[in-house]
Amino acid sequence: MRSHNPSRSVGTGDRRDQPLGAGDFVMVAGYPGRTNRYALAGEFNETASWTYPTIARHYNAVLKMIDEAGKADADVKVKYAATAASMNNVAKNYAGQLEGFKRIDAAGQKQAEEAAVLAWLKKQGAASPGEGKEVQSTTEEIAKYGKALGANDPEKGDKESWKKLSGKFAENTKALDDAADAKDLDKVKAAQKAIGGSCKSCHDAHRGQ
Ligand code: HEC
Repeated sequence: MRSHNPSRSVGTGDRRDQPLGAGDFVMVAGYPGRTNRYALAGEFNETASWTYPTIARHYNAVLKMIDEAGKADADVKVKYAATAASMNNVAKNYAGQLEGFKRIDAAGQKQAEEAAVLAWLKKQGAASPGEGKEVQSTTEEIAKYGKALGANDPEKGDKESWKKLSGKFAENTKALDDAADAKDLDKVKAAQKAIGGSCKSCHDAHRGQ
């Protein structure tokens, strides 16, 4: 984690008017300290289709019990009046929120927002123009040496075999470089595997003990 740049922090003088840069410390104060605003669409659906209706139903069932008991016994009615009133408020609150969700199509909005974030996130994985340069220059070097190897003469084994095997090696290292240029991971892996086989077959034929 990068530490923040103290000279840009709030209240430390001359750079307060500078725009924020990557790694700068930012503290956001606000209320409420907790929000469900960023719940996933699936969580929201669970809340709207199960949790809230279930809570509201529960309160209404208890209210019904209190109401019935109050009808049978006036004492109960008086004693539970305040409790029933507050439970009624809670039940109405949940019902009101559910109505609000429907009115603004909260589920649809959630779904759309989530789809947009996921689409954005997917794009973040794609290579940007400058990305992979380091890998590409490394594979270029490997291909260069891969080609150069054939210019040497083997101390062991015949020239024909050496020509063939060093040629194959040059071919495979070039395939790796091409795959890196194309940013094609599957081809990079395939070329890497071929190079590994190339090392071994040449060592078997031309490397002393
Ligand atoms: C075209 C043939 C050929 C290919 C391809 C080849 N090598 Fe070799 N390699 C040799 C020969 C011959 C020697 C022995 C050289 C010597 O003893 O002077 C050797 C020696 C080595 C050595 C020992 C170096 C040392 O200190 O003596 C290593 C490590 C090595 N190769 C790694 C690799 C790797 C890794 C690859 C594949 C990426 C590879 N080689 C591809 C022919 C090849």
